[in-house]
Amino acid sequence: MHRVPSHVACVMDGNGRWATRRGLPRTDGHGAGEKALLDTVYGALDLGLDWLTVYAFSTENWRRPADEVRYLMHFNEGILLRRRDELNDLGVRVRFSGRRDWRVPRRLLRHIDDTVALTGSNRKLTLTFAFNYGGRAEIIDAVRAVVADGVPASKVDERELRKRLYFPDMPDPDLVVRTSGEFRISNFLLWQLAYSELVFSDVLWPDFRREHLFDAVREYQRRDRRYGTVEA
Ligand code: IPE
Ligand code: IPE
Ligand code: MG
Repeated sequence: MHRVPSHVACVMDGNGRWATRRGLPRTDGHGAGEKALLDTVYGALDLGLDWLTVYAFSTENWRRPADEVRYLMHFNEGILLRRRDELNDLGVRVRFSGRRDWRVPRRLLRHIDDTVALTGSNRKLTLTFAFNYGGRAEIIDAVRAVVADGVPASKVDERELRKRLYFPDMPDPDLVVRTSGEFRISNFLLWQLAYSELVFSDVLWPDFRREHLFDAVREYQRRDRRYGTVEA
């Protein structure tokens, strides 16, 4: 296969609608998303991707009903406990990108740290959970670090800012897939998406499987990335 992307990022959207259509509580949709996530990880390994980044909880998702927020905190903790050995055996390095603020339960932070430590030396695939993540928050945090480091205004450039993003070693996504038929970015990786290819799928996240990832990659392979230049 030619031109396989190195980094794919997914906005895992449509869990609530998936559940509502079945007469179930919205949270059942999040639960059903676990299978979709794991199948996508297997698909990423099949494809030989280096990086897979998934949007799990945004800085705006705190505005949801308290019960749903609480469910999502437990759910993400549960995913770590249920899946970390499997991910580790697969050679997946797990990371979390986002703000570690007081709203994230302490126990979840501990499981995050344990999972990151457990899988830290794996190199097959880096799976980054964007959790309590906002693209604007990340840029603001980077700007704060630039200022705190005393970088003079005349020396502030893309390199100085990029160095202070949450994971400076993470390459920009080549491809972003958003499920559930929504056509927006919703504060995901704003800096990094400057030249990413965007593919939108009508599939609701709990129904997403590796075949849908392969479809998105095929669509990506038909795209012509120009980065502002003209054809050679
Ligand atoms: C995405 O599914 C999961 C999170 C945002 C945590 P949603 O919960 O947004 O599902 P819809 O968009 O309401 O269907
Ligand atoms: C984006 O989905 C966030 C995640 C998938 C975690 P949302 O469902 O929160 O986005 P909006 O509200 O439709 O823009
Ligand atoms: Mg949504």
